[in-house]
Amino acid sequence: MKGIILAGGTGSRLAPLTDVFNKHVLPVGRYPMIVHPLMQMARAGIKEILIVTTVAALGDLSRTLGSGSKFGVDLTYRVQEQPKGIAQALALAASFVQQDLCTVILGDNIFTADLEPYVQGFVHRDHGAQILVKQVHDPSRYGIAQIEQGRVTSIMEKPPQPTSNLAVTGIYMYDPHVFRLIKTLQPSSRGEYEITDVNNLYIKHSEMSYAVLSGDWIDAGTFPSLARANEIMARCSYPELSTL
Ligand code: DAU
Repeated sequence: MKGIILAGGTGSRLAPLTDVFNKHVLPVGRYPMIVHPLMQMARAGIKEILIVTTVAALGDLSRTLGSGSKFGVDLTYRVQEQPKGIAQALALAASFVQQDLCTVILGDNIFTADLEPYVQGFVHRDHGAQILVKQVHDPSRYGIAQIEQGRVTSIMEKPPQPTSNLAVTGIYMYDPHVFRLIKTLQPSSRGEYEITDVNNLYIKHSEMSYAVLSGDWIDAGTFPSLARANEIMARCSYPELSTL
């Protein structure tokens, strides 16, 4: 199992803060935001991790995370030249993942559950894709999953009139076919290659499974949710990290 953390994009919903700092190094509790998804992967036993980011943020991120040795992981970095969407950022991981399975976490997703059982469940299954869903109060902000008789039947990206309140979190697991599927995508109306389109292809091929993420989960991409992420992580510490 390889890990990928996507930390590109513009962070425009956190401007003007993100005019100066990259979103993924903003403080969440005692650590820069990206340290949380990185530690989740490390604790789940995922040791080979690719960070995808922008040219502008590469310096800040490599200064924050280094080679990964202080987190007990081996980091590789790759640059996404333009913010053309989450699926396009993931496509940059093809040669890193090769024929392995991968767990993808969006760099602004903060959560408290232990990732390991979800990862192990997917490793055991060994094919297709898995999303983790979570009940939310503001469903039009997210990809929203429709679940019928225990199966995901569709995902709609930020629907104006959501038909459920089950958000698709930014934690995804894929088999290596994901890279072939991404190549078939067309950009959406907002000009991005959407991860929701990738997930809908897995649904179409009856290869999508899901699990409900336990604990707290937040997408820290807006000011209110960044404040909430700070509350959730206020007392979080990683004793295995002596210094940062
Ligand atoms: O957090 C969960 C949600 O994340 C899902 O429910 C949505 O289905 C999914 O599309 C995504 O929505 P967002 O609007 O939150 O995505 P955002 O554009 O904020 O990007 C999230 C992260 O993905 C960001 O922290 C960095 C990375 N990213 C994003 C883009 C657009 C990239 O690495 N490259 C990109 O081009």
